[in-house]
This record gives sequence, C-alpha cells and structure tokens, in this order.
Amino acid sequence: MRQAGRYLPEYRHLRERAGGFLELCLTPALALEATLQPVRRFAMDAAILFSDILMVPYGLGQSVEFVESHGPVLDALNGTEDLARLSLAALPERLAPVYQAIRELAGALAPETALIGFAGAPWTLASYMIEGGSSRDFLKAKAWAYGDRQGFSQLMNLLAEAVLAHLDAQIRAGAEIVQIFDSWAGALSGEMIETWSLAPIEAIVARLRARHPDVPIIVFPRGAGAAYKSFAENLRGCALGLDTSVPLSFAREELQPLVVVQGNLDPVLLVSGGAPMDAAVERILERLGPQRLVFNLGHGVLPQTPPEHVARLSERLRAKGSGPP
Ligand code: CP3
Repeated sequence: MRQAGRYLPEYRHLRERAGGFLELCLTPALALEATLQPVRRFAMDAAILFSDILMVPYGLGQSVEFVESHGPVLDALNGTEDLARLSLAALPERLAPVYQAIRELAGALAPETALIGFAGAPWTLASYMIEGGSSRDFLKAKAWAYGDRQGFSQLMNLLAEAVLAHLDAQIRAGAEIVQIFDSWAGALSGEMIETWSLAPIEAIVARLRARHPDVPIIVFPRGAGAAYKSFAENLRGCALGLDTSVPLSFAREELQPLVVVQGNLDPVLLVSGGAPMDAAVERILERLGPQRLVFNLGHGVLPQTPPEHVARLSERLRAKGSGPP
C-alpha cells in the first residue's frame, strides 16, 4: 500500500530526474526502479507496482496531470455527453508501458518477493473523474449518482470494464496478486456503498476469478465502517484490506472467520515511531495473527515518515517470523 514515495530520498531524486509523476509511471525503467527502491531498503515480502489508480482514466483518454504540492487534476466529466470522450479500446495501447514495467519487474524481483498489481475501484475512479481531482464532499459525483442513475451507471459500467481489462493485463504481464483500492468507499452513504462500491467490485472479482482462479485478490474499501461485514460476506476467498478505523475486536470476531484480513497500522504511528508504534504492531499481531493476517498499514506511507521507522518495523516483523516461510 503506497510503500514507495516521497519519504524516500532516492524516490525524490528519481522523481526529479523523471520530470513528472506521469513520466515516472509511463517509463518502464523508472517505474521499475521506483518499485524496487523500498524493497531494496526494507526487504518487504511483496513489491507493489509503482503506478497510480489514475492510470485508468488516463488510459481511457481523459487528461490527467499531477500538480506539485496540489495533487491530481483531470478534465472533469460533467454528464453523460462527456462519456464520448472516453475510449475503452484505447486503454491497452496507452497503458502498454505499465505492462512492460511489470514484465521487467517479474524478471528483476527475487522469486520469494511477490509482485502486486492494482487498480482503483469504479466508484473511487468515478469520483476523481467527475470532481476533476481530490474532493472533500464528493458533491458532483454523488449528485450525479443520485440525480441521473442511468447515466452514472453507464460511467460505472465503462469503468468496471476498464478495471477488469487493466487487472487482467497486469496479471498476464506477471502480477501475482492484485489489489482493488476503493479509497473513497466511506464517502458513500447507507445503501449506496452496496450499490456503487461492493456490487461493482464483486462483479469484477467474479470475472477476474473466472480468468485467473489462482491469483489472490485484495479488496480495500476504505472507510466502509459497519459495511465491512457485507464485504467479508460477499467476497469470500478475497483478502479484505482494513483501514485504520477498523477495531481489532470487530476484525477478529466478524471479519476474520470469513476472509483473510490485511492491515491496519495507522501510518501516523509510523511517522512518530518509538514505543507507541511498537505497542500497536504488537497488538495487531496478537489480536489478528498469525493466521489469516497480512500485516500492513491502514493507509499509505506518509511523506513525513522517517525511513528508519519503516526499517525498524520491517525488522521487527521479520523477527516475529511473519515473513515468508
Ligand atoms: O507504493 C507504491 O509504490 C505504489 C504506488 C501507488 C501510488 N498511488 C503512487 C503515488 C499506489 C498503490 C497508488 C494508489 C492511489 N493513488 C490511490 C489509492 C490508495 C490510497 O492512497 O488511498 C489513490 C487515491 C491515488 C490517487 C493519487 N495519487 C493522489 C490523490 C495523489 C496525490 C496525493 C499525494 O500523495 O501526492 C497521487 C500521487 C501519488 N501516487 C504519489 C505516489 C508516490 C505522490 C506523487 C509525487 O509527488 O511524487
């Protein structure tokens, strides 16, 4: 979960050399290097492809830019008439450098280091595509979903096809595990989370499984709250990524009997480090480990994180024997 990035001096250097974030993602040699940086330093059990969920909107032909110290900027979709700007057929060609990076990574990684590919879930992608970037209240995206269900479904169906194609191509290129990020699942109210987060993910999982029955799938519905239970009930055989707000007792009693869980150390504890971090790690391992747990953070590594704290965490986990057998 976002283990590469600005907290590493070697990443900042590489990013400068690349000129821009998009260039970094779309130049196989650079994406390969950014993927390997944290693995080299900390010997993680798995490498996550260096890329971004916004590669799918880019692949569909939407303009995507990453503006320094601001975040992503997209030419926002304003209604069904804008769907004509998107092309599913264009995606494989536009994202070919991503698949090339995976092919090269598959050869470069030690066999015991798993390679994780990923995609954003339709709802999270739709939110960026409609809002034109990050959002606080998701006003435009939710208003579209409430006010023009049919048009919004059309966009969501297109995104489901794109996400499926993107994950399938990553697996064919050499990704051994895939993760689906619904980072803004928690912005959906009540039953909307079932309709616009769980249901499309379930459909993608079913179709991906039919093609690649042995590839593990991790689903991360961040902020799903009580709805985490529905995700566990409906996504048997997947692993469920837990955000930092999920109580360990709920995870153990309600979720772990149904699915493998992944998570959920607060990334802020990795910034502050010391005894509170050690204690929180211990608590997760004790309450959720050692079976049916993939230790992870509850969200991405923050840019303010001292790399020494990640090193300490990695060493402690390894000493606990939570690494590969
Ligand atoms: O760890 C890794 O190597 C994986 C790479 C990865 C990135 N983004 C690289 C990145 C992954 C898995 C993502 C997923 C992603 N991207 C998500 C889902 C996970 C989550 O965090 O909830 C989301 C919502 C995005 C969209 C996105 N990308 C935003 C909102 C931003 C700007 C905010 C920020 O942190 O700067 C990005 C940029 C981004 N993606 C960076 C990295 C390393 C920082 C870019 C930079 O300045 O170099």
